[in-house]
Amino acid sequence: MAQKRAIILDGDPGHDDAIAWMLAAASDALQILAVTTVCGNQTVEKVSYNARRICTLLGIEAPVAAGRSTPLVSEAMNAPSVHGESGLDGPALPEPTMPLCELSSVALMAKVVSEYDGKVTIISTGPLTNTACFLLAHPELKEKLECISIMGGGIELGNWTPAAEFNILVDPEAAKVVFESGVPILMCGLDVTEKALILPQDFEAMRAIGGQVGQIVAEWLEFFYRFHKNIGYEGAPMHDPCAVAVLLRPELFDLREMCVQIETKGEYCRGATVGHNRKPPNARVAMGVDRAAFVQLLIDAADRLKNREVAI
Ligand code: RIB
Ligand code: CA
Repeated sequence: MAQKRAIILDGDPGHDDAIAWMLAAASDALQILAVTTVCGNQTVEKVSYNARRICTLLGIEAPVAAGRSTPLVSEAMNAPSVHGESGLDGPALPEPTMPLCELSSVALMAKVVSEYDGKVTIISTGPLTNTACFLLAHPELKEKLECISIMGGGIELGNWTPAAEFNILVDPEAAKVVFESGVPILMCGLDVTEKALILPQDFEAMRAIGGQVGQIVAEWLEFFYRFHKNIGYEGAPMHDPCAVAVLLRPELFDLREMCVQIETKGEYCRGATVGHNRKPPNARVAMGVDRAAFVQLLIDAADRLKNREVAI
C-alpha cells in the first residue's frame, strides 16, 4: 500500500472544520500527526475545547495544542453569527477524553515535523496565524513540509468583505508570510468552496447512513445550511472539507497555477488574495469542483465511521 500522507490539522472548529476533520479521520491515506487550533471562528479557548471534542468523537488519537489568542497584528475577530457562541453550536458532543497538549501549537508543529521520518503536509482551515508563526520560528523545518493545503481567500470574491474571505482577513500578515514562504501551496478559496454546496438531499443522505458520526455530521451540515439559506445561498458551502478533499482526490478539482499575493493594506481591500500570472506561480488554486463526487466523498467517509460510538 502507498505510504500514508502525514498531516497536521490546523483550524478553528467551526462546523466546516469539524467536517473536514471527519473526512481526514476516515481516510486510510492520511496519518494525523497533530491537531492545532487557531483563534478565528471563536476564541482559541473555545475552538480548542471543540477540537478535543471532535477528536474524541472521531477517534483522532493525536495531540491537540492551542495557538495564540490573537492574530499576528490585528485584534481577534470571531464569527458567532455563523458558528454560534460555542463555535460549534448544534448537536451534543462528547466531553474530551484527552487533555490539551502542554506545548503551544507552534511548538507541537515543530516537534512533529522535526521528528517525523518524511515530509509533512499542513492542512489549515482557519486563519494562518499558527502556520506563519511556525515558518517564522523554524525556517530550518520548511524543507520538511510537503505542502500547505489551505481553505482561505478567493480570487474572484470575498465573503466577510467584498474583497476578502474570513480566514485571510483575520490575519492577512500571516497569510502573506505563508504565501511568500516558498512552500508549495494548495489554495481552496471561495472560488471553489462556494461551488462545493451541500443541499438538503445531501444531508438527508448523510443522515440515512446511520451511526453516531453520520447523524452528528448531518446535523452540522443542516446547521450550516440553515445559516447560509437565510443569507441567500442555494446550499451550504463546504469550505474547509475542500482543503482535505483536494489532497485525497485532486482530479475532482479544477486546479490552476497562479501567483497569489496578499493585500495587507487598503481601507477596502485588506485581506484580498490577488491571483495573477505576472510573476512565477506560488500556489495551485482550485477554481472548480465536481460537486456530486465531492459530496459522495463526505458521505463515504461518514459511512466508514458508522460503527464508531462514544458516550455523550
Ligand atoms: O470563510 C470560510 C472560513 O471561515 C471557514 O474556514 C470557516 O470555518 C471560517 O473559519
Ligand atoms: Ca475554519
